[in-house]
Amino acid sequence: MSTRPSAPAPATPAPGKLPLPELREMKLRGDKIVMVTAYDAPSARLADAAGIELILVGDTAAMVMLGYESTLPVTLDEMIFLVRAVTRTARRPLVIGDLPFGSYEVSDEQAVTSAIRMVKEGGADVVKLEGAGRMASRVRAIAEANIGVMAHVGLTPQSATKLGGFKAQGRSAEAAKKLYEDALALQDAGAFAIVLEAVPAKVAARISRALDVPTVGIGAGDGTDGQVLVWHDMLGMYERRTPRFVKRYAELAGDIGEALSQYAAEVRSGVFPAEQHTYAIPVDELQKFEASLATGH
Ligand code: KIV
Repeated sequence: MSTRPSAPAPATPAPGKLPLPELREMKLRGDKIVMVTAYDAPSARLADAAGIELILVGDTAAMVMLGYESTLPVTLDEMIFLVRAVTRTARRPLVIGDLPFGSYEVSDEQAVTSAIRMVKEGGADVVKLEGAGRMASRVRAIAEANIGVMAHVGLTPQSATKLGGFKAQGRSAEAAKKLYEDALALQDAGAFAIVLEAVPAKVAARISRALDVPTVGIGAGDGTDGQVLVWHDMLGMYERRTPRFVKRYAELAGDIGEALSQYAAEVRSGVFPAEQHTYAIPVDELQKFEASLATGH
């Protein structure tokens, strides 16, 4: 186990906000950490009301919110716009602003500048970035700028092309060892938590046991310290293929589709709007109105 102290929390967390060090306490107590993505104000309010600890404004927004084909095109400005909506309504959950592709790869300075924008303009509590290797240096630079940073290894969608597609990682002894070492290096660089995506359950559990900081798994089995799912995937709101590790807790696209079809049918048939959806005008006022139209004054 590494003995590195936890990454710094922002200087003045808002009242009622989950303190960042509490995540480590949860790991020590064996309490699972719940994280979900959200990209707008009403979703953030619902996640907060459900007692969820972490809201990730993930770059999956590119696909599930903005209609891009992958996560690569979304810009830092677009992400900040979404983060701002989430931070307006999320009170207790820590809001994690995901740094999009192109906003941190060039240099440590670029990474710190982007992280500062996420916090200052978006109101994010902390940020997340993908990758290991040289990215550990980005993590260190952001943590040293007093911004909490979550790392993300395993299947990292921003580098899916390099990884040979959207497939599970760490499935050979060599690849598992590399993941393990990457995770330790990211912790040593100052990451306050690490997302493990599409990693064999036994490998993710072993990495989680080795780390002091919590792991949050997605497609990484039940041995991680927490779980994350993408809002639209878990609620059945994304019409395209969802990965096998997603559990659907609702089928909202179907419900919304039915509601919209019923609305359209009722407008066309005159069932909607009914009496209770309309405003009345007193009879004498209506008569005066008609009279004024008839007389022209
Ligand atoms: O962008 C995102 O939503 C993510 C999660 C899949 C962890 O990175």
